Amino acid sequence: MGKQYFTITYGCQMNESDTERINGQLAELGYTEAPAMEDADIIILNTCSIRQNAEEKVYGKIGEIKRVKEKNPDLLVGIMGCMAQENKGKLISRMPIIDFVLGPYHIHDLKEVVEEELAARQHVVRTQMNPERVKDYSELRAERKSRTFAWVPIMQGCNKFCTYCIVPYVRGRQTSRTVEDIVREAEGLAEEGYKEITLLGQNVNSYGLDFRDGTDFADLIRALDRVDGIERIRYMTSHPRDMTFDMVDAMADSPKVARHMHLPVQHGDNEMLRRMNRGYTIEHFMELLAYVRKRMPDIAVTTDLITGFPGETEEMHQATLRLLREAQFDSAYTFIYSPRQGTPAARMEDQIPDDVKKRRLQELMDVENEISLAKNQAMEGRVFSILVEGPTKQDAGHWYGRTSTNKMIIFPKTDGLAIGDMREALVEQAQTWVLKGKLV
Ligand code: 5AD
Ligand code: SF4
Repeated sequence: MGKQYFTITYGCQMNESDTERINGQLAELGYTEAPAMEDADIIILNTCSIRQNAEEKVYGKIGEIKRVKEKNPDLLVGIMGCMAQENKGKLISRMPIIDFVLGPYHIHDLKEVVEEELAARQHVVRTQMNPERVKDYSELRAERKSRTFAWVPIMQGCNKFCTYCIVPYVRGRQTSRTVEDIVREAEGLAEEGYKEITLLGQNVNSYGLDFRDGTDFADLIRALDRVDGIERIRYMTSHPRDMTFDMVDAMADSPKVARHMHLPVQHGDNEMLRRMNRGYTIEHFMELLAYVRKRMPDIAVTTDLITGFPGETEEMHQATLRLLREAQFDSAYTFIYSPRQGTPAARMEDQIPDDVKKRRLQELMDVENEISLAKNQAMEGRVFSILVEGPTKQDAGHWYGRTSTNKMIIFPKTDGLAIGDMREALVEQAQTWVLKGKLV
């Protein structure tokens, strides 16, 4: 029997995408995917450092892997992704069952490292930042999970240095792929039958600014809009400071760009935004949001919020609750502030006690859940186009698809239905996170 790999992904969509390229490298070495960790010849954890709890999950998993390795001493264990970059060789000294540590810029090295490991069994740590590699991204074969929608990384890194965020330290400075390179990848995907692409970057609105030739995200959208066969274009994540009105226009002018925008506001108080180094005010954010909705009245807007940032007073917290009511997001991902070593906010005074953070988080969720539900209820009785993604996890008799606004509709499967079909679905019953209905 051939060799098998088992890869576990933590964190964001960029990591999901990286995992597909990691698996692509292993496939080139002749490995196939193992059904379970216990069957694998190589286990790779593609890790995330964004919050403490993301890291704790990884440490827990390494504990489990240790037991697998006791039974199978030939097992290779690799740590990749953001924790690899953050902790480097320290990971191996703390946990010697780890064979290699490769940072986000070293997916290209994986094949060579695995072969070296197999031959010599030496610990390998590679964590240099090598932004040039972003330019060769298309050379990395991806083992894509879906045949319908595909991740397309358009850049790496981030220059924003929000004071809470570890990303600039683990993913380095922003480096964009060229428009031509990205369009070529999209054309290839269309030829293979992909209908939907999701453009990925830590801050897509500053795409291309590193070329210093005037290229920006609006140009990329306009170029991708012309790729035949791609029916839907999504992107993640936006930054309210770098999203220009022209980018909103480019989006509004393209029927292919999904009517969904994930626009993290982080907080409802200007002093908090200043301490977070976000570079905009709530007034600017609301103006941008109003323009987005004016150009695309049917759009769904979602956001991220951090609660319990250092110095957050009760009044500041109330400002976020007010913002939620005013902005009427379709959903909000709310996070408890987690101090990240090496970031400016971790050294700030007035850290907020855990019990206060938890209470504030609950208050944010209570307000937002009501709004999300009301937004979804407004869809009841209406018909929406969905791209069919497949059976739900719980029940093969029920399938789901997504609207352009990124809402998930679950419906009873009908005969002749295939993954990737564009269908019309009637929404019958709304819940906070999903909609139930039927195909019409
Ligand atoms: N603590 C809590 N949440 C964080 N985020 C980023 N860094 C932190 C941190 N240190 C959140 C932000 C970001 C999302 C991906 O994660 O809201 O938008
Ligand atoms: Fe986690 Fe950020 Fe790295 Fe994504 S880029 S895996 S969210 S730390």
